[in-house]
Amino acid sequence: MKETVRILLSEQEVDQRIEEIAKQISEDYAGKSVHLICVLKGAVFFLCELAKRITVPVTMDFMSVSSYGNDTKSSGVVRIVKDLDEPLDGKNVLIVEDIVDSGRTLSYLLHILEERNPASLRLCTLLDKPERRVSQVVADYTCFNIPDEFVVGYGLDYAQKYRNLPFIGVVTFSD
Ligand code: IMP
Ligand code: MG
Repeated sequence: MKETVRILLSEQEVDQRIEEIAKQISEDYAGKSVHLICVLKGAVFFLCELAKRITVPVTMDFMSVSSYGNDTKSSGVVRIVKDLDEPLDGKNVLIVEDIVDSGRTLSYLLHILEERNPASLRLCTLLDKPERRVSQVVADYTCFNIPDEFVVGYGLDYAQKYRNLPFIGVVTFSD
């Protein structure tokens, strides 16, 4: 099977939109600090670009959950692979995610993090595929809504490949 990647969103488009979202976040959290939670590994590139542009004080922590194997369809099974290092009590928590697809991962994460008593809990996603929603999840900050296509780059992978592409591309498969 041959894989081809075509550009959906250029590096410049993505960076420009992250700049806007970071400005919005900085305004919304004015006078407060924000605790970013990066969902590994896909959100790493987005987290870095976003965090650099936020002007209120930022702290961050990392967690890893699994919902996909080496396939392009969600298994529906969500499991904590690496938990956060620090408690969330009293913090203004902003989950930073690469993509909301079925919404299963995020509805699970929002549920378990809410139980850790943050002062506030919001969700920021680089990409959203609203057409594919199974669990009702609405992001507070969305950089781009995209069509129902499998995307890679800017942290997103297909079978662990392509995370380092500086743009967001669509993978197509042919014989
Ligand atoms: P959900 O639980 O179905 O919303 O899926 C969430 C996770 O699946 C994301 O955090 C990604 O890691 C992965 N995922 C969903 N769609 C894509 C895609 O188009 N490309 C790469 N990974 C994806
Ligand atoms: Mg992810």
